[in-house]
Amino acid sequence: MAESVLIVNGASRINGNTDILVGKIIEGAKGAGSNPTLVELRSKHISNCIGCYSCRDESKCSFQDDMTEIRNFINKSELLIFACPLYWCGVTGLMKTFLDRLFFYYHLQNRELITGKKAIIITPMNQKNVDDESKILVEFYNRLLGCLGVKIINMSFFSDIMEKGSVLKKLEYLKQAYAIGTNLKNL
Ligand SMILES: Cc1cc2nc3c(=O)[nH]c(=O)nc-3n(C[C@H](O)[C@H](O)[C@H](O)COP(=O)(O)O)c2cc1C
Repeated sequence: MAESVLIVNGASRINGNTDILVGKIIEGAKGAGSNPTLVELRSKHISNCIGCYSCRDESKCSFQDDMTEIRNFINKSELLIFACPLYWCGVTGLMKTFLDRLFFYYHLQNRELITGKKAIIITPMNQKNVDDESKILVEFYNRLLGCLGVKIINMSFFSDIMEKGSVLKKLEYLKQAYAIGTNLKNL
């Protein structure tokens, strides 16, 4: 079992589809004896990366904000789950701000703290043409996490859900999310 799992939820909408799917993943994980840590970005203070390159030059970030705590969770976790609704074929602003701050790990002194970890991507979305609609996102995550040496082991798309909570009508999605949680023990 992946001994420590961090779930980063980048949804802005409280009790929306992402929250519900994340809840199911946690339920499945707990049922299988795992207890993931959940970070909801909307309740965190994370400054925009200003490109000061302090992480490159001094291997530390110039900001003292909630990323310090989140980096500690990342460092301790074997598996990272990024859950975020598809926004304009990409991630939400909340998630993008967070991901920009992972630039900290791009520099060699820090990279060993993240490289070798595994990742799962969870994406609720409205459109049904998943392959076409998700192309940019897939490329984005592959490049970003590839640069950091993080291996994506599963990308799951939950299409045809628009309204808040509409995922509750899709029992197969709820089961799929629960199974992702249960399966964490095999990773
Ligand atoms: C600003 C915005 C942009 C969106 N862009 C897309 C998109 O590009 N493709 C898509 O399939 N759905 C898009 N959606 C729909 C959301 O992905 C969908 O409603 C999702 O279920 C929202 O998850 P949530 O309930 O956790 O907020 C967009 C929604 C918003 C509000």
